[in-house]
Amino acid sequence: MKSKKIGVIGAGTMGSGIAQVFAATGYDVVLVDVEERFVERGLAIIRKSLEKLVEKGKMPADSAGATQARITPALTVDACKDCGLVVEAVTEDVKLKKELFARLDAVCVPETILATNTSTISVTLLGAATKRADRVVGMHFMNPVPLMQLVEVVRGLATVPAVIDEIVNLAKELGKIPVVVNDSPGFVSNRVLMPMINEAIFCLETGVADKEAIDTVMKLGMNHPMGPLALADLIGLDVVLAILEVLYEDLGDPKYRPCPLLKRMVAAGFLGRKSGKGFYDYRG
Ligand code: CAA
Repeated sequence: MKSKKIGVIGAGTMGSGIAQVFAATGYDVVLVDVEERFVERGLAIIRKSLEKLVEKGKMPADSAGATQARITPALTVDACKDCGLVVEAVTEDVKLKKELFARLDAVCVPETILATNTSTISVTLLGAATKRADRVVGMHFMNPVPLMQLVEVVRGLATVPAVIDEIVNLAKELGKIPVVVNDSPGFVSNRVLMPMINEAIFCLETGVADKEAIDTVMKLGMNHPMGPLALADLIGLDVVLAILEVLYEDLGDPKYRPCPLLKRMVAAGFLGRKSGKGFYDYRG
C-alpha cells in the first residue's frame, strides 16, 4: 500500500477500535462520523481503552499518547481522498452502506482499497456500488477490537488476489490473525455464532433455564470466555437481530428465524451494554 494513511468511517464501538489498532501500529488515521458528538464519543472510547492497556502494563504511556495523536477526527469522507485503505464500520444498513461505498469510490484516488467491517452484508453487493469492485474487500474485526486476534478477510466475487494479500499482510502487521473466507451471508463467524446466540435466547424464552444457567453451561461446559447471552449484550442486541435477519432472508432457511424475545427486547430499547440494559443490567 503506497499511502500509510487509513480512513475509518463510523466512530462507534467497532470503528473506534479499528482506528485505535491502526494508530497503535503507526498509521495515520482519519476517523470520520457524521456529527461532532459521535466522533468525540469514539475518541473517548479509544482514550479509555488505551488507559486500560497502560494500566495493565500492556502499552507504555508514551505509545498511548502517540497513538491518540495519530488519529484525526473528520466529519466528511472527503478527508479520506488520499488514503491507502478505508475501512467502513457504519450501522448495518444495506442502503446506507451502498451509498457510502459509491461516495467513497467517487472521492478516493484509484489506488485506495475500500474495505467493509460488515458482520453479514454482502461484500460483492457493496463492491457493485462502486467502479472498483476488484478493490473492495471485507475486513471483519471482532469486538473488542484491541483484544481479539481474528480478522475475517472476506473475498467478494470480484476482489482480486493482490488485494486479499494486502489485507492479509496488513492484518498481520496489526498483530492480528487473518483468515480468508468467501462472501456468503454471515461469512463463517456469524453463520456459526448467531444460531448459537439465537438458540440461547429461545432457551430463555421457553423457560429451559434462566439466563445465568444458560451462560454458565456454555462458559464452563464449552470453555467459552463468556456465555451467549452476555456475548449478545456485548455485541448489541440490535446488531444480533440485524445479522439474523440477513441470514434468514438471504439463506431462506427457517433455522435462522430471530427469536421473538430478541425482537421484543430490541423494540423496548434493551440493546445490551451500550444502552445499559440487555439480558443483564449494566446501569451503575
Ligand atoms: N481495550 C483494552 N482493554 C480491554 C478492553 C478494551 N476495549 N476491554 C477489556 N479490556 C481488558 C480488561 O481491562 C482486562 O484486562 P486484564 O486481563 O489485564 O485484567 C481484560 O481485557 C479482560 O477484561 P475483563 O476482565 O473485563 O473480562 P474478560 O476476562 O471476560 O475478557 C473479553 C473480556 C476479552 C471480552 C472476553 O470475555 C472475551 O473474549 N469474550 C468473547 C468476545 C467475543 O466472542 N467477541 C466476538 C464477538 S462477535 C463479533 O465481534 C463479530 C460480529 O460481527 C458480531
